[in-house]
Amino acid sequence: MAEIVISLQNVSKCFKRYRHPVDRLKEIFWPGKTRADQFWALRNLNLEVPRGITLGIVGRNGSGKSTLLQILVGTLAPTSGSVRVNGRISALLELGSGFNPEFTGRQNVFFSGQLLGLSQEQIEGKFDEIVAFADIGDFIDQPVKTYSSGMFVRLAFAVATSVEPDILVVDEALSVGDEAFQRKCFARIESIQERGGTILFVSHSAGTVIELCDSAILMDSGELLLYHTPKVAIDKYYQLIYAPENKNHQVRSEIRALNQGQSPFSKPGSKEQAKAKSEARTVKQQARAFYDPNFKPDSSISYLCRGAKIQEPLLLTPRGERVNNIVGRHEYVYSYSVEFFETVDKVRFGMLVKTITGLEVGGASYVFPEGYIEAGKIINVKFRFKCLLHPGVYFLNAGVSGLEDGCRTYLDRCIDAAMFRVLPEQEALGTGTVDLLVKTTFSVENAEDMVEGMADNMVDIGEGAIDIVSQVKSG
Ligand SMILES: Nc1ncnc2c1ncn2[C@@H]1O[C@H](COP(=O)(O)OP(=O)(O)O)[C@@H](O)[C@H]1O
Ligand SMILES: [Mg+2]
Repeated sequence: MAEIVISLQNVSKCFKRYRHPVDRLKEIFWPGKTRADQFWALRNLNLEVPRGITLGIVGRNGSGKSTLLQILVGTLAPTSGSVRVNGRISALLELGSGFNPEFTGRQNVFFSGQLLGLSQEQIEGKFDEIVAFADIGDFIDQPVKTYSSGMFVRLAFAVATSVEPDILVVDEALSVGDEAFQRKCFARIESIQERGGTILFVSHSAGTVIELCDSAILMDSGELLLYHTPKVAIDKYYQLIYAPENKNHQVRSEIRALNQGQSPFSKPGSKEQAKAKSEARTVKQQARAFYDPNFKPDSSISYLCRGAKIQEPLLLTPRGERVNNIVGRHEYVYSYSVEFFETVDKVRFGMLVKTITGLEVGGASYVFPEGYIEAGKIINVKFRFKCLLHPGVYFLNAGVSGLEDGCRTYLDRCIDAAMFRVLPEQEALGTGTVDLLVKTTFSVENAEDMVEGMADNMVDIGEGAIDIVSQVKSG
């Protein structure tokens, strides 16, 4: 039986909520009568985490994930119950915690290092490495309050992981950084995993949880509903959030019944774990598209619109469900609406897919077939395409142009209007950006019987991978 590094018994946390801010003051001046509503953010939580595992924490917003982590780290005290943590715990909590905004990055590195139990010399020894990892340049000597959220997370993550923690706790924060930095962070998380560290990881990204975690818990309204393999926890999480209102109760009870009252792995590194990991990998291979509300471009630029305005750029499945994490070789629909303020002739609607580095991967544009578009009309454009892209993050542009005095001019353009991720596959055989649907055959030249092999994950590409539909939405 692996050593338990985190043990929570019957942990509950109650917050007081005041309907009016002044009620808080009234309670201070006239104690005795409470004016607050009690709110239980955690209820009778029991959890044991064996050393060396990576535990994913999923659950909708407000389900108590951050409260749980803060109790583990000690920045919040439980209202009742007992908490035992065995080892040095280092945390990257939600933005706003940890650093003192008035001090420089350099000063904060030293304060945080000391809080984590390092001596002045030890911090000095690690300082250059921390700064190199954070890669925030001269900002290291600026007050932290001048940092962008991305810079803040870079430095916080660099500090939290440089101390070689026994337990690393990461609360969603990584979704703030850019993809390149995230890759660097995940590499570091993997190295902590390799040397036997324990990791607790809150994430809304099913792909990340399945890829990174050995087991996962599902939180729901302050209750630890399920402790299971990442695959089961994620499946149940989606089942729960997509359950119709009147089935909610039933779905919850069914999920609760799957709990075995113990950690899903008796021994980390055991056969069950290996099996669960490979099961998880299978899920990843058949990944499902989903929508992650935190995954959105922070670099959207709308040009000054002249005569028309692009609205609601969305990526959808052919059935109309909104997605931004999608599966390669499947079909999707990029849709936006354009409101016209002037009557324009020969309007052309365009779309373009770019990589993070700005490489233009592909796109299309299409002239509205019915001549003039009158002022006041709203046109909804749908570009249906097959996602022939390898796993990675991509950005979508939108553009509308028309003829003005015989010249084609942009009526509106939106750069980085939307972004999407093509989910990783287990057998990442492809390289580069575009999926060329490569089929491979081999034969042995000097053999009597020819040996032929063919990769089995082939999908036929139909004619006209990009096909455009447009329709008039309102007059
Ligand atoms: N300091 C606080 N005072 C009152 N309510 C709080 C406080 N912190 C969190 N809550 C409430 O507790 C619930 C759980 O919050 P949190 O743990 O942040 O959820 P999650 O991280 O899963 O989104 C939420 O409903 C939140 O509004
Ligand atoms: Mg949270």
